[in-house]
Amino acid sequence: MHEILFKEEIGPDIHMYRFHAPDVARYRKPGQFVIIRISDEGERIPITIADVNSDKGSITLIVQSVGKTTLQMAGMKIGDSIPDITGPLGVPTHIEKVGNVLCVGGGIGIAPLYPVAKAMKDIGNRVISILGARSSNLLILEKEMNDVSNEVLITTDDGTKGRKGLVTDAIKELVDQGEEFDLCVAMGPPIMMKFVSLLTKELDIPTIVSLNPIMIDGTGMCGGCRVTVGGETKFACVDGPEFDGHQVDFDELMKRLTMYEPHEKQSLDHYSSKTGCRLAGTLEGDQE
Ligand SMILES: Cc1cc2nc3c(=O)[nH]c(=O)nc-3n(C[C@H](O)[C@H](O)[C@H](O)COP(=O)(O)OP(=O)(O)OC[C@H]3O[C@@H](n4cnc5c(N)ncnc54)[C@H](O)[C@@H]3O)c2cc1C
Ligand code: FES
Repeated sequence: MHEILFKEEIGPDIHMYRFHAPDVARYRKPGQFVIIRISDEGERIPITIADVNSDKGSITLIVQSVGKTTLQMAGMKIGDSIPDITGPLGVPTHIEKVGNVLCVGGGIGIAPLYPVAKAMKDIGNRVISILGARSSNLLILEKEMNDVSNEVLITTDDGTKGRKGLVTDAIKELVDQGEEFDLCVAMGPPIMMKFVSLLTKELDIPTIVSLNPIMIDGTGMCGGCRVTVGGETKFACVDGPEFDGHQVDFDELMKRLTMYEPHEKQSLDHYSSKTGCRLAGTLEGDQE
């Protein structure tokens, strides 16, 4: 069993959890994720390891409630335990000193971006981060990203914080000012990663994205997480989740993510009517 050592609401429908998971904490590298089950009958959900404390044997997960399981998880308290945390899973990020690294995070994607930005900075890169959210109250980890970046730019769709606009506008602004980037790491909603990748392809900046297809076993056996990269089928759980953004078929990814929508809605509605727990309603539209 894995106890919840710490829990905090860091935004509407967004919680930070610290779980006791010493083995995962010991072996995890930036870019990796875990698959958790919050009860014996529960479904398996993949979540990126946002941070670890190997001395305390804890891992930090940042979870946005979007459906039944993540809403149920939001109702758990410090001291509660969950039966399974499997991992670390996935190929770690290739951390290398390349020079100027542009880190672009949108919405909950800032959670997986943070450990990568931190590792990129620690190895000696100059890290410029662009953080995007629909509105200021949905912006997470601003302080943490400031700590691991040389500069941070913020964009919000409604202009409540930073520049009004999209992360792609901020990328153009930096490039127009004469900034040159050796690598871009983009993590966020698929639509954001698609448009960042289209822009960085034009600008000739190599780009890594972290994909979030539906995963089931997380071991390369079920094929649920298949994505097309450079015309080839890849399994995001074992070949990724990070891939070359210029090679990813984002339209296929977005289509596959909606495959179970009616069932997910039915399950959430059933859970909400049984328990009275509801999403705060921040998910209309997308996060960029
Ligand atoms: C490698 C990876 C890392 C992730 N990291 C994070 C993270 O750090 N924080 C975070 O909040 N979310 C993360 N996600 C997304 C998270 O797994 C889903 O939000 C969660 O599974 C939704 O479960 P649910 O029952 O609450 O919602 P549901 O009602 O079941 O689904 C709502 C939406 O969540 C997605 N989803 C549902 N089931 C899965 C599944 N088994 N695998 C992947 N996506 C699913 C689909 O887009 C779906 O439309 C990650 C996904 C992947 C693949
Ligand atoms: S989740 Fe089953 S193959 Fe990747």
